[in-house]
Amino acid sequence: MSIALAAEWLADARQVTVLTGAGVSAESGIPTFRGDGGYWRKRRVEELATPAAFAHDPRLVWEWYEERRQTVAQCTPNAGHRVLAAWEKRFPFFLLATQNVDGLHQAAGSVRVAPLHGDLWTLRCTAEGTERADHRTPLPELPPRCPACGALERPAIVWFGEPLPKERWEEATQAAVVCDVLLVIGTSGVVQPAASLVDTALAHRARVIEINLQETVLSDVVSASLRGPAATVLPALDRLLPPST
Ligand code: OAD
Repeated sequence: MSIALAAEWLADARQVTVLTGAGVSAESGIPTFRGDGGYWRKRRVEELATPAAFAHDPRLVWEWYEERRQTVAQCTPNAGHRVLAAWEKRFPFFLLATQNVDGLHQAAGSVRVAPLHGDLWTLRCTAEGTERADHRTPLPELPPRCPACGALERPAIVWFGEPLPKERWEEATQAAVVCDVLLVIGTSGVVQPAASLVDTALAHRARVIEINLQETVLSDVVSASLRGPAATVLPALDRLLPPST
């Protein structure tokens, strides 16, 4: 697949939807979940990001998130995030559905964002369900406790086995239904239901373009794959588009 053809598809598109994963933040210095470096203290993400893991050892789960919070706090958006932020002004309809909880799309200026898996900087009371923002790193107490009632707090992140936030998921699904082009960037495509946006878009005749360093489980079904780092491929694609009016 040539990048020039992908640029033609994008240039013709009025409605563009994007699904991003950890790979889009890799060049900002944030480790991805799978592949090299995908383990934390010999544990896989599937062993940490679950209600059962939290019930068993909330401190351990929080230590993992604390480490990620500290890493992310030192990172800034890269050229890939910036291109996606600019594209929401370019296309008449644009939605960026992200599996990332690092907030770097928003830091780059993206507003049309559906954060499917929640947010690393929001804490939720396990007793009352109330949420509060807390950007301190390190947190003064691990695991943190609700300032109002003293119950344990958890990250406001969707864990394995939990449903996605209903409104955001409906918005993302609808955006996959109506789009002319779906870009799938830096995701292994193994986590559902996020990855099913690809099937939804294909079923509604969208062109689906994957941008990834390597082949994924989605590569066989998408319309085209561009291999390379997102922070290089997205700016290259952007340069091939006609000037926006
Ligand atoms: P993964 O770690 O599963 O996949 C990252 C993907 O990014 C892989 O396919 C890599 O090949 C690709 N990649 C790495 N560096 C890249 C780069 N510079 N440019 C382009 N691609 C690159 O991460 P996700 O697919 O995001 O959920 O994982 C999905 C979910 O699993 C996450 O949201 C997380 C995790 O459990 C929660 O935390 C709830």
